[in-house]
Amino acid sequence: MGLPERPRIAIVGATGAVGRELLSLLEERRFPCAAIRLLASSRSAGTAIRHGGESIVVEELTERSFEGIDLALFSAGGSISRRFAPAAVAAGATVIDNSSCFRMNDDVPLVVPEINGDELASNRFAVGRGEAGIIANPNCSTIIALMAVTPLHRAVGVRRMVVSTYQAASGAGAALMAELEQQARDYAEGRPYTTDICGRQYLFNVFSHDSPVGDDGYNEEERKLLRETHRIWNDDNVRVSATCVRVPVLRAHAEAIHLTLDAPLDEAAIRGLLDEAPGVRVLDDRAANRFPEPIDAAGRDEVLVGRIRTDVSEPDGRGVALFACGDQLRKGAALNAIQIAEWLLADEPARGA
Ligand SMILES: NC(=O)c1ccc[n+]([C@@H]2O[C@H](COP(=O)([O-])OP(=O)(O)OC[C@H]3O[C@@H](n4cnc5c(N)ncnc54)[C@H](OP(=O)(O)O)[C@@H]3O)[C@@H](O)[C@H]2O)c1
Repeated sequence: MGLPERPRIAIVGATGAVGRELLSLLEERRFPCAAIRLLASSRSAGTAIRHGGESIVVEELTERSFEGIDLALFSAGGSISRRFAPAAVAAGATVIDNSSCFRMNDDVPLVVPEINGDELASNRFAVGRGEAGIIANPNCSTIIALMAVTPLHRAVGVRRMVVSTYQAASGAGAALMAELEQQARDYAEGRPYTTDICGRQYLFNVFSHDSPVGDDGYNEEERKLLRETHRIWNDDNVRVSATCVRVPVLRAHAEAIHLTLDAPLDEAAIRGLLDEAPGVRVLDDRAANRFPEPIDAAGRDEVLVGRIRTDVSEPDGRGVALFACGDQLRKGAALNAIQIAEWLLADEPARGA
């Protein structure tokens, strides 16, 4: 896999929450590109979006949209990726996909650059094999958890990980963000809540993650945390359990994480490991009772980690409790995708953000 020095880029789902973040990150990070094509459904075809001082007209996605494209960034949902990513690859583009469509496909690397960017150089994914040409971006909750936990896993090994998420509206896309804002206006103006997207009162409420629940009672977001952790760490022995919940926050997820390690690690050592980890920032001020909050993480590249404690419920010092916040539109989606693209561009890829 590799990209020309100044690739021609298509963003599929350009009008969505992740698509707009992709576009602004291309500009912010001065990603070299020869041209940008913005693609969405017929609903928003013809809309103009400002980028770098120019106005780009959104086109309707079709199988022919990828002629002349080197890099296709997909963020329009799994069914769109399933249908159109192969057409993009057939046209010669490398695909970086934000949906869950290809994440568990053995021929598709599932990559967080700071953690397993080396996968991108692996011969296993050389052009001409399987789904070669497609790279999957992991689930947002998984990326945020693993950014915080992988430094400890690398140091001593994680045996068990229990994650409780507090997920923002933006994780479900632009429409849910707009509905949460609308519910705030409805409340202020004494009107009944608008519930077209959410189907319930979201303001002043929390609810179990809006993904299908399986026979074992786990929802799809919780299953992704298990499956994708195993795949990214290349380790099926780590025991993972999650409870995923939506909270009425506009942007940035929070996660309480409890770990059982293979060997004890004291708080100073944990702080040291997290201080050195690329893409992680420790915010852990006990005296001021100041720890990561979604509004601190919103719009930031780093995953914030705090509440660093030895878990007193584990008798032998092998238990660790953490609290992490990350902007899932950035590191949980668009930023991670752009970092993957930067790896593909560079001769000697830089590790980390
Ligand atoms: N939001 C997150 O934090 C997050 C994090 C990780 C991964 N993801 C994944 O990223 C993808 C996009 O999520 P999002 O939050 O950005 O959703 P979103 O805000 O709802 O945006 C969806 C985008 O897909 C486009 N689209 C929908 N149907 C289409 C069709 N038939 N043909 C072409 N384009 C179509 C929409 O275009 P129109 O304007 O024309 O409707 C819009 O641009 C999803 O797969 C999601 O699971 C999201």
